[in-house]
Amino acid sequence: MTNKVVLEFKGISKSFPNKNGSLQVLKDFSLTIRKGEIVALVGPSGCGKTTLLNVAAGLVERDSGELVLDREKRLAYVFQEPRLLPWKTVDENIWFVQEQFLEAENARLLRNRLLEKAELSAFRNAYPAALSGGMKQRVELIRALSVEPEVLLMDEPFKSLDVALRTQLWDLLLEEHERQGFTMLFSTHDPGEAMILADRVVILTDKPTRIMHEVVMDEPRDRRLQQFDVALSPINSDTLTIFDPFYSIHCSHNGRNAVFPRND
Ligand SMILES: Nc1ncnc2c1ncn2[C@@H]1O[C@H](COP(=O)(O)OP(=O)(O)O)[C@@H](O)[C@H]1O
Ligand SMILES: [Mg+2]
Repeated sequence: MTNKVVLEFKGISKSFPNKNGSLQVLKDFSLTIRKGEIVALVGPSGCGKTTLLNVAAGLVERDSGELVLDREKRLAYVFQEPRLLPWKTVDENIWFVQEQFLEAENARLLRNRLLEKAELSAFRNAYPAALSGGMKQRVELIRALSVEPEVLLMDEPFKSLDVALRTQLWDLLLEEHERQGFTMLFSTHDPGEAMILADRVVILTDKPTRIMHEVVMDEPRDRRLQQFDVALSPINSDTLTIFDPFYSIHCSHNGRNAVFPRND
């Protein structure tokens, strides 16, 4: 990771019209993300995670404030709901986005490798209608990785996957991050997932959302994984307490507790 800022929200405000007039979701929101960093957004449902990602992607116009993001940078966005083109096969859906950036043979090699790792090779000629929700989500993820993005935005990308697949895709994502070095901002409902994948977990309040606190994950990832035993059993988010008075993150998981202290 270098110190170069790749994505920065600077005092951004955003309201949506609603039946009472307007709903303020973002109010003077600021967050800085540096090159190669993986940052997770965690917060209550409806607090504005998707809105933040949409602002970063340029899909939602902010009311005020500044967004720092070089539009020349190659950006990939994994939406919460898969958005595959129904008339194209899995392979064609991926090539459709690669085509804008990569030369055909390199694109094919990368596509093949990612399809294989996501255990989708057998479905490369299938149409989206023939795929389960989890399979579509996997295609979305590898489609984003297949353009070798510089900035990767993901909105609850692992939500509809079972635990075994989820951890397999975490590995795939981290491996590609290691290789490609992209900068990544993603939202999740699962604090355990945030703590395993991210370098920094940003915990948001309800709307208008502000940063309640940030947790810098300085423990090596494999240690975090061991601590959670995630490959074997899902973390039950009902038992999670993320707003701890000592500014640490507590996870109670199958009767075991893991505590990640804030390191500042
Ligand atoms: N286009 C929109 N029009 C009106 N309200 C919206 C729109 N997009 C989001 N909202 C509202 O803004 C709030 C934040 O939404 P969202 O960013 O999707 O939250 P999260 O992703 O954290 O669950 C919610 O109350 C949602 O209903
Ligand atoms: Mg959302």
